[in-house]
Amino acid sequence: MSTGSEALGHPRVHHRLTDSTNERAKELAAAGAPHGTIVTADEQTAGRGRQGREWISEPGSALLLSVILRDLDERHSLLPLATAVAVCEAAEACAPVACTIKWPNDVWVDRKKLAGILVEGRPQAGWAVVGVGLNVSARSFPAELKGIATSLALESPAPRPQSPGAALEALLHALDHRLSDDPARVLQAWRERDALKGSRISWGDGKGRAAGVDDTGALLVETDEGRVALQAGEVHMTRGT
Ligand code: BTN
Repeated sequence: MSTGSEALGHPRVHHRLTDSTNERAKELAAAGAPHGTIVTADEQTAGRGRQGREWISEPGSALLLSVILRDLDERHSLLPLATAVAVCEAAEACAPVACTIKWPNDVWVDRKKLAGILVEGRPQAGWAVVGVGLNVSARSFPAELKGIATSLALESPAPRPQSPGAALEALLHALDHRLSDDPARVLQAWRERDALKGSRISWGDGKGRAAGVDDTGALLVETDEGRVALQAGEVHMTRGT
């Protein structure tokens, strides 16, 4: 995915409190920070998600990470999918959970959201920032996230200490592997974790049955009018099989 050969994680900037690690990382990238630079935080005051949503987590309870990537090649389009695979692998290395992925890159355990990914970039300038929020030790969520969000601590059968620090190590290791992996292997790993395949879904003004992803990472959907490929956006599972 990236031609950078150094391991991810150096240099590291850690904030106890910041608005958004993605915002800080984008500033650093624009100022020339090298490939592999990471920004982490204990707490964000303006954590951002996809589609203009906010990302909320209790201080110290989630891994909040943004990684600067440079020298991106034509496989850039698979970055969100490769990151989702890496997050699944890191989560499973930290706790006895089985992760699936809701297209394009929400990481689920039992259909509840464990982690979210926000990729932002400036392709003309040759860099991207990959932001990951992974719920680690949270044992409860605000009312609006009840039944929607989960954490490694909640999904582990025995009370095991879960720390964002351990999750960071596992995630950097998995990202190092998946971001330089062969695109065909990334796609295969993603497809094995596809949470939507075969389910009825809806989006904007469309509906149909999810039929996997094509080789660019677009979501394929069988509709009454035929097969369509969604390049971006948000889809929802609907009732029925
Ligand atoms: C989503 O689920 O919509 C994506 C959520 C991404 C949240 C992470 S937390 C670290 C990084 N900084 C941000 O402001 N957002 C990402």
